[in-house]
Amino acid sequence: MLTLILADAELELVPEQICNHPQVRASAERRGKSPSKILLDATLHHIAQRRLSQGRRRGRPDIAHAFLLLCLDSIVNQYHKLRTLIHTRNNELIEVAPETRIPRNYNRFVGLMEQLFEENAVPVTADKPLLVLHRNKSLKNCLSVVNADKIIIFSSTGKPISLSEYFRSLHYTEVSELVCIIGGFPEGEFISPVTKLADEIISIHGSELKVWTVVSEILVNYRNALLIKDPKN
Ligand SMILES: C[S@@+](CC[C@H](N)C(=O)[O-])C[C@H]1O[C@@H](n2cnc3c(N)ncnc32)[C@H](O)[C@@H]1O
Repeated sequence: MLTLILADAELELVPEQICNHPQVRASAERRGKSPSKILLDATLHHIAQRRLSQGRRRGRPDIAHAFLLLCLDSIVNQYHKLRTLIHTRNNELIEVAPETRIPRNYNRFVGLMEQLFEENAVPVTADKPLLVLHRNKSLKNCLSVVNADKIIIFSSTGKPISLSEYFRSLHYTEVSELVCIIGGFPEGEFISPVTKLADEIISIHGSELKVWTVVSEILVNYRNALLIKDPKN
């Protein structure tokens, strides 16, 4: 089983500190919502965000959107071999059921996330909601929901490896519960103390890549490594 965690993801509601900023008020008004109930989005709030600490990297729900589309539509997920989790910069954990169908339309995705932040689960009335938001979950706490054999952090400054060879070698060493952690932010470093949590920090390419490129590489290479052990192939 592969667990993919998008960590320190830049996914949050507009912080109170900038709720009164004209740029935030205007975008909330257009949607008929209260400023404190809309997602922070750098495309709409880039000027307001300058008032926040680390404002340049914040407000990137699009990264979480791309991550979820890639994971949930992947062949590894169809094989029931993928667990998908998002850990946010504010230490929330979002558990995503494998059968969840994430809206392809970005605006609908934003609405879904706003509903999740408000109600903590979607659908809120279901016995087993598709999306559940837990608060006060550090990345370390998130890892405790998985009984990991190995925890790998992906970073452009990690040890250079060939991902296909790396995943194949893990199969031979009987790693069955593998956790891969990818940063859910556009620039800078992890906020969480990842070096303390990881067994290994690896780099899959000689330069910094976009999150969706790294996630695609992981999903395809993991699937190919799985096929080696699949008796049907
Ligand atoms: C846009 S990067 C964040 C910038 C960060 N300074 C970096 O280079 O890793 C977002 C995430 O993609 C992953 N990533 C980017 N380039 C990578 C690489 N060459 N090898 C492995 N992971 C990479 C990391 O998990 C990183 O946190």
